[in-house]
Amino acid sequence: MANLFFENSTRTRFSFEVAAKRLGANVLNFDTESSSLAKGETLQDTLKTFDALGIDIGIIRHSDDHYIESLKDKFHFSVINAGAGKFEHPSQSLLDLYTMKEEFGDLNNLTITICGDISHSRVAKSNINALSMFKTKIILTGPTELMPNKNSLSSNCEILPPDEAFAKSDVIMLLRVQHERHALYDLDIDSYNRLYGLNNDRIKLLKPNAIIMHPGPFNRDVEITSELVEHKQSRIFKQKENGVYTRMAILEWMVHE
Ligand code: CP
Repeated sequence: MANLFFENSTRTRFSFEVAAKRLGANVLNFDTESSSLAKGETLQDTLKTFDALGIDIGIIRHSDDHYIESLKDKFHFSVINAGAGKFEHPSQSLLDLYTMKEEFGDLNNLTITICGDISHSRVAKSNINALSMFKTKIILTGPTELMPNKNSLSSNCEILPPDEAFAKSDVIMLLRVQHERHALYDLDIDSYNRLYGLNNDRIKLLKPNAIIMHPGPFNRDVEITSELVEHKQSRIFKQKENGVYTRMAILEWMVHE
């Protein structure tokens, strides 16, 4: 398989690599900086080259919302979406749901708050879609500028202020502000943490069995106060571990499909 990341990544790229190696696959790691893209080769010709080399699976990340979708049936290899712009991040969503299931045994009847830059987050969109397949309640919270249009929300989804959202939820999923995708929000770190972040005051509102999640990369002292990253209710690093198991399952499923 080939890791073809045309946008930065640490977790997704390396957990797909670890997953593939645990399953005995050979992994090619493409590096945009040192590749022939720098000599003017197109992305399409780069992918055709990997096709000619005979890869079975291409794991692709791209900053455009629909580029990965547009590759359907164009090559002999199977494509795994490793993050598409601000549109979707399916493997992240599967590992997030797995982490919730591992914690609570069942996804039905859970209340999940997603807090932060919902409008520009592929993680939020994929999780809202996947969680809506279960009997879940989804609460969105964060700066008004970064919330989706209320009219676009499904019936299991509502927007609430952070304190109310955090107090009601079984899962608090924090997101970072996606500065690389927009300049809508002029972030002041201290006021963001005070108004929307999980800080030492807001942690007291959480239910005793609620869990804290973050897909990463996280910005310490912005969406989460640094010392809370490894709080006993945090599953942030558990998510990274579960990412390997989930991606092993995705790869196995693709090979046997
Ligand atoms: N969660 C996530 O997609 O992280 P990376 O951007 O580091 O892959």
